[in-house]
Amino acid sequence: MTEITMDALFQEAQKAACFAYAPYSRFRVGAALLAEDGTVYTGCNVENRSFGLSLCAERSALVQGVSKGSRIFIALAIASPDSVSPVGPCGACRQVLSEFMAPEAPVRFGGSGHERVDTTIGFLYPYDSLHDLAGPA
Ligand code: THU
Repeated sequence: MTEITMDALFQEAQKAACFAYAPYSRFRVGAALLAEDGTVYTGCNVENRSFGLSLCAERSALVQGVSKGSRIFIALAIASPDSVSPVGPCGACRQVLSEFMAPEAPVRFGGSGHERVDTTIGFLYPYDSLHDLAGPA
């Protein structure tokens, strides 16, 4: 992997989880996304009292990166310190991440325990075939 290891990326996700705004679920999540140019973008979940408006950490990190001009992300780490075991990204995040990540891009997630899941976007979101719809943006 370029410049930063999955261990280091996961540590960034752990740090990002400290900023979570999760007064309703009390479930903090942090995400760290590595952009193609080596920049790491982090995000946390940002909840709302209208629960459906809550934003997941993964999409929060993605929006940070896209807003700075990045379009290709090559690795993702997700930390959920309020769960002992690893918690994977929700279905909505899998769809949105797949817009900007190749199927082979590595993903690591873990909770407060020692267990880590190492997988890929393509494994988490298979049979993704609508990319050809995108024109110049
Ligand atoms: N959450 C994330 O931020 N990412 C995930 O991968 C799973 C769930 C958030 C949404 C909500 O704020 C809280 O965790 C509980 O579901």
